[in-house]
Amino acid sequence: MLPSFTPTHGLLLAVLSQLSTRLSCSSMANLDIPKIAIYFGTKTRYEEVNPHLQRDLLSVNTSVLRPPPTERCSPVHLTAVIRHGSRYPTAKNIRRILKLNQLVRTEASGPSRSSAAWLQDIRSRWEPWYTEDMDGQLVTKGRDDLHHLARRLATLFPSLLSEENMRKRRIRFISSSKHRCVSSVEAFQEGLQQHWRHHDGLPEFSHEVDDQLMRFFERCRSYVEGVENNRTALLEVEKFKHGEEMEGVRKKMAEKLGLPLDSLTPDLVEAAFFLCSYELSIKSVHSPWCFLFDESDAKVLEYKSDLKQYWKRSHGHMISSLSSCPLFHHIFRTLDKAGRPRRSTEASPEPASILVGHAETLLPLLSLLGLYKDQTPPTAINYHSQHGRSFRSGRIVPYAANLLLVLYDCSGGPRLQMLINEMPLQFPGLREDAPLYRDVRATYRHLLDGCNFATECEGQGSHGVGGRRPNTEL
Ligand SMILES: *[C@@H]1O[C@H](CO)[C@@H](O)[C@H](O)[C@H]1NC(C)=O
Ligand SMILES: *[C@@H]1O[C@H](CO)[C@@H](O)[C@H](O)[C@H]1NC(C)=O
Repeated sequence: MLPSFTPTHGLLLAVLSQLSTRLSCSSMANLDIPKIAIYFGTKTRYEEVNPHLQRDLLSVNTSVLRPPPTERCSPVHLTAVIRHGSRYPTAKNIRRILKLNQLVRTEASGPSRSSAAWLQDIRSRWEPWYTEDMDGQLVTKGRDDLHHLARRLATLFPSLLSEENMRKRRIRFISSSKHRCVSSVEAFQEGLQQHWRHHDGLPEFSHEVDDQLMRFFERCRSYVEGVENNRTALLEVEKFKHGEEMEGVRKKMAEKLGLPLDSLTPDLVEAAFFLCSYELSIKSVHSPWCFLFDESDAKVLEYKSDLKQYWKRSHGHMISSLSSCPLFHHIFRTLDKAGRPRRSTEASPEPASILVGHAETLLPLLSLLGLYKDQTPPTAINYHSQHGRSFRSGRIVPYAANLLLVLYDCSGGPRLQMLINEMPLQFPGLREDAPLYRDVRATYRHLLDGCNFATECEGQGSHGVGGRRPNTEL
């Protein structure tokens, strides 16, 4: 599995940066990052969203925590919903990558006398090193993603993600059953351990696996039947895939490679784009495949991915967000408990709850919370009016994406702050960074009193069997 690709001039294999990450956990400044790396959608690196991390992976800016300066506040609970880190392609995409490589080697003949170095690199130097058994597993860089995130959060919340809380097993860890998520939880825990410079003396870490919470989407029948397995529900994606903009990208790529146009399907165009993203996110390499795309091509391919996320996992269909009701209620029950007034003799609340899942976990939940909902939905025909959209999956759910909910105990009552990928984001309709918790609850009243999984997903009556009790008032 060692890279069999020999770097040439413009291609910077960032061995240096990987080494320095491992040695000092700090700098990636030497890496030559493709300009198109911010358009990789859900395959975007976390460092593209938070560019200051490209200089120092452990840098933390405490000014992102914003309880009102006029009140005395201290954080009492952190809930973090985190996506796994960088991973290998899934088996399906690996098969496409191998097919693309085969095609370029055997069929590319045309006007390819181009002496472009990158093209020669693809043809003669680049070796496909992907094998199907890698299928979506977490890579070393993905472990680093979670490791560094844990250390930054421990710096940001020293009283919550503290050594003592860890020692007393007061921090809760829940994961999806998928290998890449379990590996991510473990990497997060190791990051904490290293933060306290403890390699022994702490109890064994543990976590719970809970797919009902973290993989609700596959258990929601109305969602699976109505969206996931329903071609009509994703019509916009299909139309765009064969539309004018994608056709333009496909033609350009076929010309550059000297391939007959009809041998290069839209799926293979996408495979080349993904390949560029994987070589960067897995091996920190600026791959020769990246030179197939300029910025305008990348924006089209980004839009294609965003359309898919929007119509499959987000606001496109209500049921997608409603399928996350179990996770929504779990989070608010945890916050209710943590914020409840208690006598000094009572045990203090759970300081932190770390929930690790997928982009498919986060997107429906963020949509349910009413975030990233633009006035005009993205469709197959309005690409040109969507440049300013807020729904950009690369900024919302890159690898190691996270939703942080910070509950503060303030002199005027409990307050809640939300951060996405360590950046503050306001709750819809609330103007403060850390509004009163009761105002947040009022905003989501309709969901707290409803949002019943059995009703929404199984079509049972609202008082049906298996429904969850509504949250009790604080
Ligand atoms: C921290 O972030 C604030 C804005 O939130 C910015 O003004 C400040 O310069 C940053 N500080 C550092 C050390 O980066
Ligand atoms: C499939 O999706 C379309 C469009 O959203 C919808 O009208 C239709 O009812 C869905 N079919 C099923 C079986 O849910």
